[in-house]
Amino acid sequence: MSLEYQKNQLYLIQEKQKHNLLSLARKTGTPFYLYDLIGLIERLRVFKKHTAPAHLHYAMKANSHPEILKTFCKEGVGVDVVSGGEIQLALKAGFKGRDIVFSGVGKTKEEMELALSKDILQFNVESPSELKKLAEIATSLGKRASIAFRMNPDIDVSTHPYIKTGLREHKFGMELEQLSGLKEILKQYPSQLKLQGLTLHMGSQIHDLKPLKAGILKIKNLYKEMQEEFDLKTFDVGGGLGMDYRSQDRDQDLKLIKEYGFFLKELSKSVKAQILTEPGRIITARFACLIGEVQYIKSSSYKNFAIINTGMHHLIRPCLYQAYHHIVQLEKKPGSGRAYDVVGPICESSDVLGKDRVFSGLEEGDFLAILDTGAYGSVMINNYNAQKPPKELVI
Ligand code: LLP
Repeated sequence: MSLEYQKNQLYLIQEKQKHNLLSLARKTGTPFYLYDLIGLIERLRVFKKHTAPAHLHYAMKANSHPEILKTFCKEGVGVDVVSGGEIQLALKAGFKGRDIVFSGVGKTKEEMELALSKDILQFNVESPSELKKLAEIATSLGKRASIAFRMNPDIDVSTHPYIKTGLREHKFGMELEQLSGLKEILKQYPSQLKLQGLTLHMGSQIHDLKPLKAGILKIKNLYKEMQEEFDLKTFDVGGGLGMDYRSQDRDQDLKLIKEYGFFLKELSKSVKAQILTEPGRIITARFACLIGEVQYIKSSSYKNFAIINTGMHHLIRPCLYQAYHHIVQLEKKPGSGRAYDVVGPICESSDVLGKDRVFSGLEEGDFLAILDTGAYGSVMINNYNAQKPPKELVI
């Protein structure tokens, strides 16, 4: 999202057009999420270009706004889903079953039935029990499920503990030791189960690609071993690319995408497989902001609070992961800077969107934009305190 101040007012710049966010906020009414579709398309294309020949399955849990999904569908990518609800949204946006890989540890009978009836590309299976259940449902529907085993490489990545998934203490994936049991189940259901690949996902918001690469290479070796026994076709390397929320420097994102892309290109030369990749955050995070209005300025001898009409119910990342998001004024005012905690209306002290943020001349009725909220923002909205969701605008 290319944002720029002109005469102290914030503009969204899109190719030859510019949009005054202050006028937009006044006209639309707050709070609202604003998405930059042009930026999103460009980022998707850049990622595709640098990671080819890997096939992109966008992790739609990051952002499943219908306009975004429709646009991505037209760009020819697939999706990674984690629920029947996401399958429905994907189908509605134009994706076909063959575009869908289905991850997640808790797939229900109904979700499996839906996925089987749409002949999805691949179930990423996370446990022996899930495999059995899938086989039984496939039997009852007269279908054959294409599957990949999600393996847990047991390698640590450096990120927030809540979003690590690649260690054996996590609920995700399966241990190498479980393979013989899994193979037994496959033997019992030859007409219902077709093992076509392996997959892994080690966590999210990963900046140092070293452990990610190590995990992928570990599972690649297993893939090669298993190829002698099974007709494997797909190697799904998950998602996880991180970004620096404290910086607005897009070149850093690009640098990481390039490093990852180079690695995937080399990988595809060293293994006979269609590589699938499931990025979420790195595609969408930069291309949205959440705009709210200052309801009250509250000052004590100790602190200043800017109380706005959005908060942890609309953007839970700061509260849940102590995540940082830039917050900027839609209109810069004269005056010296003053530090505020930007907080929402929710009855929790954790309802803080930003601590000690400096604004000049901030007044009640002013608008603030919380930046880089395109991933895991609107999709994690809740209605705690019977609050209403924000609007969502796509430009
Ligand atoms: N594939 C699988 C199987 C996943 O579980 C995830 C994310 C992805 C792909 C996409 O990962 P990404 O490229 O976006 O890192 N709510 C947290 C992030 C949770 C990620 C969950 N899984 C946050 O706001 O930071």
